[in-house]
Amino acid sequence: MTNTVPNYTLNNGVTIPQEGFGVFRVDPDKTGRIVRDALEVGYRHIDTAAIYKNEEGVGHAIAQAAKDGLVEREDLFITTKLWNSDQTNATPAFEKSLGRLGLDYVDLYLIHWPTPERGTFIEAWKTLEQIYATGLVKSIGVSNFTVPQLEQLLAETSIVPAVNQIELHVDFQQPELRAFHAAHGIATEAWGPLGHGTINGSPELAAIADAHQKSVAQTVLRWQLQIGNILIPKSNSRERQAENLDIYDFELTADELATIATLDRGDEGRNGGHPLEVN
Ligand SMILES: NC(=O)c1ccc[n+]([C@@H]2O[C@H](COP(=O)([O-])OP(=O)(O)OC[C@H]3O[C@@H](n4cnc5c(N)ncnc54)[C@H](OP(=O)(O)O)[C@@H]3O)[C@@H](O)[C@H]2O)c1
Repeated sequence: MTNTVPNYTLNNGVTIPQEGFGVFRVDPDKTGRIVRDALEVGYRHIDTAAIYKNEEGVGHAIAQAAKDGLVEREDLFITTKLWNSDQTNATPAFEKSLGRLGLDYVDLYLIHWPTPERGTFIEAWKTLEQIYATGLVKSIGVSNFTVPQLEQLLAETSIVPAVNQIELHVDFQQPELRAFHAAHGIATEAWGPLGHGTINGSPELAAIADAHQKSVAQTVLRWQLQIGNILIPKSNSRERQAENLDIYDFELTADELATIATLDRGDEGRNGGHPLEVN
């Protein structure tokens, strides 16, 4: 199963498995077991964040899996994120994340939210550029940035973000942001790729899923893949983890992709672009 997830090449030449496993709202006490399941099922890319309070659990699962010969560190791609209140303090925040993960390096480090009211994301990015230069992180990127915020970042700093991790699902397809990313070599990484479990319930999507004898969730994830997004679905259930990885034996047609494009409600997403208390 693992080998069927394609590698996506980021703008600095680093490759990332296009489908990963997200651990937002995974209970810190259960994270070790749930990430172990995900590794056994075949995920090789894990997405966590300092604010999820479960980096230790991710780290334990990685260490144990390496000890058991299940997977080597270098075969994994690990993302974590700088929390908003640490934007002026990114180096120690990064070092703490590394310590909690128990790793020598992180594959991708993201500014979690721009929080423009703080006025500190440029400072944070310049510090991430310095951390990147040390080699302790293999790629740097941002999350939840809008087009004007990306424009400011590109104008005032040196490194183009490798990714912008954004809310993106069938109800909220973000065509303008995706086009901006494509024009600037920034990968689109979809968070909430299933619509946070409230998967679009339209008859059109159900019919497409039926035509391929796949679930609606699998159809949605396949759509994410085929439009070129990196996707990081989350599930506490080993069965649904496997279901979400079983999307490499069918292909949506151009007509089906066009139908799914019409289902975009273009709303503001779950939170209108503002950080939730914890995400
Ligand atoms: N950068 C950011 O600001 C940000 C914000 C939010 C999320 N994220 C990242 O994106 C990842 C994914 O987003 P998300 O967790 O919000 O939402 P999601 O992956 O779209 O949806 C997760 C929900 O869908 C359910 N689910 C999973 N597989 C399913 C299936 N095959 N059929 C039916 N239901 C299914 C899960 O329930 P069960 O667990 O019970 O299966 C869970 O309730 C997060 O874990 C996190 O890593 C980033």
